[in-house]
Amino acid sequence: MLGGALAAVVSLVVVLAPAQAVEEDGYDLWLRYRPLQQASQVQQQARSISYAGKASPTIQAAIDELRRGLQGMTGKVPASGTSVADGAIVLAKAGALPQGFKADGLAALGPEGYLLKSATVNGKRVTVIAANEDIGVLYGAFGLLRALNTGKALAAIDERSVPKLQLRVLNHWDNLDRTVERGYSGQSIWNWWELPDIRERQYVDYARANASLGINGTVLNNVNSKAEILTAPWIAKVAALADVLRPYGIKVYLSARWSTPLELKETKTADPLAPEVAAWWRAKADEIYRTIPDFGGFLVKANSEGQPGPQDYQRTHADGANMLAAALAPHKGIVMWRAFVYAAEKPDDRAKQAYDEFKPLDGKFAPNVLVQVKNGAIDFQPREPFHPLFGAMPQTPLMMEFQITKEYLGFAMHMAYLGPLFEEVLKADTKQRPNGFTVAQVLEDTDHGQRPTGMAGVANIGSSRTWSGSHFDQANWYAYGRFAWDPQGDSRAFAQEWAMQTFSREPQAVTQIVDMMMRSREAVVDYMTPLGLHHLMDTGHHHGPGPWVDNLGRPDWNPTYYHKADKKGIGFDRTATGSNALAQYAPGVAQRWADPRTTPEELLLWFHHLPWDYAMPSGRTLWTELVARYDRGVTEAEGLRARWEKLKPLVDGRRYDEVAQRLDTQVREARWWRDASVAYFQSVSGLPLPPGARKPERTLEQYKAIKFPYAAGHH
Ligand code: GCU
Repeated sequence: MLGGALAAVVSLVVVLAPAQAVEEDGYDLWLRYRPLQQASQVQQQARSISYAGKASPTIQAAIDELRRGLQGMTGKVPASGTSVADGAIVLAKAGALPQGFKADGLAALGPEGYLLKSATVNGKRVTVIAANEDIGVLYGAFGLLRALNTGKALAAIDERSVPKLQLRVLNHWDNLDRTVERGYSGQSIWNWWELPDIRERQYVDYARANASLGINGTVLNNVNSKAEILTAPWIAKVAALADVLRPYGIKVYLSARWSTPLELKETKTADPLAPEVAAWWRAKADEIYRTIPDFGGFLVKANSEGQPGPQDYQRTHADGANMLAAALAPHKGIVMWRAFVYAAEKPDDRAKQAYDEFKPLDGKFAPNVLVQVKNGAIDFQPREPFHPLFGAMPQTPLMMEFQITKEYLGFAMHMAYLGPLFEEVLKADTKQRPNGFTVAQVLEDTDHGQRPTGMAGVANIGSSRTWSGSHFDQANWYAYGRFAWDPQGDSRAFAQEWAMQTFSREPQAVTQIVDMMMRSREAVVDYMTPLGLHHLMDTGHHHGPGPWVDNLGRPDWNPTYYHKADKKGIGFDRTATGSNALAQYAPGVAQRWADPRTTPEELLLWFHHLPWDYAMPSGRTLWTELVARYDRGVTEAEGLRARWEKLKPLVDGRRYDEVAQRLDTQVREARWWRDASVAYFQSVSGLPLPPGARKPERTLEQYKAIKFPYAAGHH
């Protein structure tokens, strides 16, 4: 981010010129630290930074960030040293708290928690950042800067914060050639070719951004992994990244390919129960930990979408996970074993397969294994009901897998703030306990401190100048991090924080931006897959509509498999008369969703196959309602564009233009989605368009002919 001298110049410009005249390119993310209105007052309260001990790299990172942030926001660089003067920000650890400062309950904040408190110490007015460990101090520094950046007053600050999940990780689906599976933000930020010699500055900024949210782990490579990543030259590259990220509390993990030892021709099999295989992985773990003593562990996609796995040897997922877990356990490493499995050979509903395979394994996993479950049972759709595994494996630590990169929500081209999607899933009540058991509670459950907890987010980060491919996609990274820290958080509050730090503190601007963000995901649902429809995207790359596609190698890759529309009706019957996927949910949930009358409208066609003339609560027929939803989606997309126009005077020029271009695209593509879908479903239902509905612009054949052989993110 901006260096000292440059920052000073830019701050000066900000003060003198109207906000919209400053060019911003988005690289600074939410760590822009623009001048505060009350700058001089805050400057009085933040004149110096004090730390009594010898600063570790982590403490130094906290001091540097405070200096950078305070300089940006107040216009003055605070002094730093060991003395405590009036207006000091005092960094302190348990056992070395300033004399007379009471930090009640500090121990309960754990290794990563912190408290921020305005206090009088030896007659001096100070603000204390206290924590048990260095990393807590760093998180506290970011917490303090966020508080200031969002207009909070230092004088009365009294905050404590503890992460509710232990593992808060990003999953990069980054390949070793720097392409990114489902990446829409340019090349991978990992410049593997030049590593380990070249350690780019961007890695430090990546670490700062993640630490500002409390993200404490990163899986560097694609779940569709390659054997080479576990060879010595690559481990050296990984070690270099680990060195850069370490001061920021971020551990590195790797996606391990199941058949690695076999492919490297170092074993004759990859059977997890073969002693030579277990020995190979033990030796490999030892080798990794020799260079990366705090290596996090492995993420594994096995027996899924053609990836090798223990089932190739008639072993279970637990056999596979436990063998790796045994290799990592002596080093305190963990295994994140993915539950994203489905197989075309199985004629059963794809939505049921993960549960069917994993539920019987409950209680069979080693203590350092977490089963990583996608938020829904299909695949990161604009809307899915929560995955039935949540709450259904009481003896197994389950971690959440969200997708931050928007594979199915318009890539980085459409505005879709995912906060409400995350929140909707986390707040969903699995009803697996008599008094309720939300998905967030399932994730937070440590079983009395006995087991690890976590959340993973498939990253949307690349080497694009905006990091995330678009300015608003940064908010999805941000919201993910905040929810990983607090799964019971509030998506609107996160949007507001983000907007204030990233765009403007002007109340008018904040209100408008937050309003746009909060509407955006529902708009996408409406113009792509309303009323519980899902997986209607075009083949492979998933860009644009393809509800007609019915010719793919596997039935469960075809959109027609998911919507099951014909002359009579539409929707996937997952009740007892159909696949009965509903039976995988607790009775309290299943009963409600078994009847279309009590199924929330937004999940209707996920669970029910209904006639086109089914009477909706609105009084319309299903067909008329469906078209109305598509239209509503288009209207909302147009509304986003119109709202943005109003923000022109309040947003800097470059970012204004860049967002405007994307919103223009979104409007165009929303119409395309609506028109192509309406044209297709009409061809199937044979029904006339509802009165007043606009005729699709082109013919169905024309929509079908649109092809994207070079779409982003697909290799
Ligand atoms: C989706 C995605 C794939 C990815 C897979 C996974 O199917 O399209 O690119 O590999 O999820 O999560 O493993």
